[in-house]
Amino acid sequence: MTEGSGVRGSVALRNSWSRQRPVSAPTMPWPLLLLLLLLLLAMGRAQTTRPCFPGCQCEVETFGLFDSFSLTRVDCSGLGPHIVPVPIPLDTAHLDLSSNRLEMVNESVLAGPGYTTLAGLDLSHNLLTSISPTAFSRLRYLESLDLSHNGLTALPAESFTSSPLSDVNLSHNWLQEVSVSAFTTHSQGRALHVDLSHNLIHRLVPHPRSAGLPMPTIQSLNLSWNRLHAVPDLRDLPLRYLSLDGNPLAVLGPGAFAGLAGLTHLSLASLQGLPELAPYGFRELPGLQVLDLSGNPKLNWAGAEVFSGLGSLQELDLSDTNLVPLPEVLLLRLPALQSISVSQDVRCRRVVREGVYPRRPGSSPKVALHCVDTRESAAKGPNIL
Ligand SMILES: *[C@@H]1O[C@H](CO)[C@@H](O)[C@H](O)[C@H]1NC(C)=O
Ligand SMILES: *[C@@H]1O[C@H](CO)[C@@H](O)[C@H](O)[C@H]1NC(C)=O
Ligand SMILES: *[C@@H]1O[C@H](CO)[C@@H](O)[C@H](O)[C@H]1NC(C)=O
Repeated sequence: MTEGSGVRGSVALRNSWSRQRPVSAPTMPWPLLLLLLLLLLAMGRAQTTRPCFPGCQCEVETFGLFDSFSLTRVDCSGLGPHIVPVPIPLDTAHLDLSSNRLEMVNESVLAGPGYTTLAGLDLSHNLLTSISPTAFSRLRYLESLDLSHNGLTALPAESFTSSPLSDVNLSHNWLQEVSVSAFTTHSQGRALHVDLSHNLIHRLVPHPRSAGLPMPTIQSLNLSWNRLHAVPDLRDLPLRYLSLDGNPLAVLGPGAFAGLAGLTHLSLASLQGLPELAPYGFRELPGLQVLDLSGNPKLNWAGAEVFSGLGSLQELDLSDTNLVPLPEVLLLRLPALQSISVSQDVRCRRVVREGVYPRRPGSSPKVALHCVDTRESAAKGPNIL
């Protein structure tokens, strides 16, 4: 997760605006200002601990010249359910409440000075079976929320609408049916990454197009290891990354990925059951760059038309499938293809073998796959597949 840097960056910025004494920039000579800036850039950040609520650890990171702004990470993990609501310092950026056997969170558990400006909250490894719809309503700057490893069976409809979330981790819960609308955030257009892996999801309820609610800004969605028998309707989401690994998907045919023209990465590894790739199943994905079909020894496929329409595909992972050896006609279907993994250790790259010179006008260069076994590459020469 990219949680750390992003969170830190924006909080630091916010704090610098609110906490720094106003520097009278207009009266300061430019060389001095430049020197200040260089000093600021040259300074590392310092870490210290500070007094904290009993049992918790408070770690302060200071930034800038004369430690002009600071933020605190508060770790209250593994202390037990009595710890909430815990008072936290005003400049707390990240609060860890993981592994506390918490059964319930509501707005009174997450309230007090310091909570309003919290950017990261870790509630993983608790015993949460439900969350109150208003639990996070006061966390107006929350960007990263970890609810993984709980017993959540449902998500209230508007849980995240008050927060500018960019990362929500709901993996390892007991969710069965999830509404896409539940991920409506106070995002103002920023991308949202949602991890729903390792749940029991058999249905994803599409966002109603007619409703007044804005479309959730989900850019990556991890639905791996759930109970989906078909690709859910995700149309109109600004999705770029989608993982459906480990689901019992049946037939992937035309229309399966309708409305996902912006998708660049798709992972369909280790599908359960007897998955089948039908012709033109990927034709709605003209922007797809990376496709992972690895770990599917029982995958049935119906010829080269399966890969029709994948005009931007650069990387294809076919390791541990029965789709190799591949006919080289695939290279013509996939004009942008750069590399194919055919097994854990064997990777093939597209090469252009020049014909006789000068090349006759109209003749196309011969393309081929050049495969290298990474285990043996040191000892043996490469093979041409
Ligand atoms: C979500 O949490 C799980 C379990 O704690 C972790 O393995 C996974 O990497 C997290 N997902 C993201 C996107 O960080
Ligand atoms: C919030 O949850 C706590 C238990 O964690 C409970 O004691 C309290 O009554 C709840 N407050 C509201 C407003 O529901
Ligand atoms: C999705 O989740 C699985 C299992 O938690 C993990 O292995 C995988 O890396 C995740 N994929 C992405 C794209 O985050």
